[in-house]
Amino acid sequence: MKNIFVFILFVFLIVALFGFAYSFAQEKGTDGKKIFEAQKCNMCHSVSVVGITSKKKDAIDLSTVGSTYKADFLTKYIKKDAKIKDAAHKIAFKGNDDETASLVKWLASLKKK
Ligand code: HEC
Repeated sequence: MKNIFVFILFVFLIVALFGFAYSFAQEKGTDGKKIFEAQKCNMCHSVSVVGITSKKKDAIDLSTVGSTYKADFLTKYIKKDAKIKDAAHKIAFKGNDDETASLVKWLASLKKK
């Protein structure tokens, strides 16, 4: 009887550990969002699905940008190496490669439900 109790406790512990590891992994996924805000992208862009609202009235909402563009295009676009409808982006992203990768990964994950 005691053994069963210990076994159930053990199973619970494993489940709890997995839950913790999973939520931690999700936490890491928000890095791109932090960079987005730190680089002031939110001056001109809203991302309403995650509660980022730009003060600019005609701000472009990037909530579904991942459905429109692929990650490698976004990487070039925010560095002004690619154009949309013959126009380069207003600003060139100044972050390093790691920051660019996290930011783009996050942007590309913003897809239509
Ligand atoms: C000074 C204002 C401004 C800032 C700051 C800004 N953007 Fe933009 N962004 C624009 C405008 C305006 C457009 C629309 C295209 C154009 O006219 O250049 C755009 C378009 C985009 C698009 C394409 C959206 C689409 O659906 O066509 C992406 C992606 C984007 N911006 C990402 C970013 C990221 C990431 C940052 C931060 C590193 C950022 N922007 C900072 C003004 C800005």
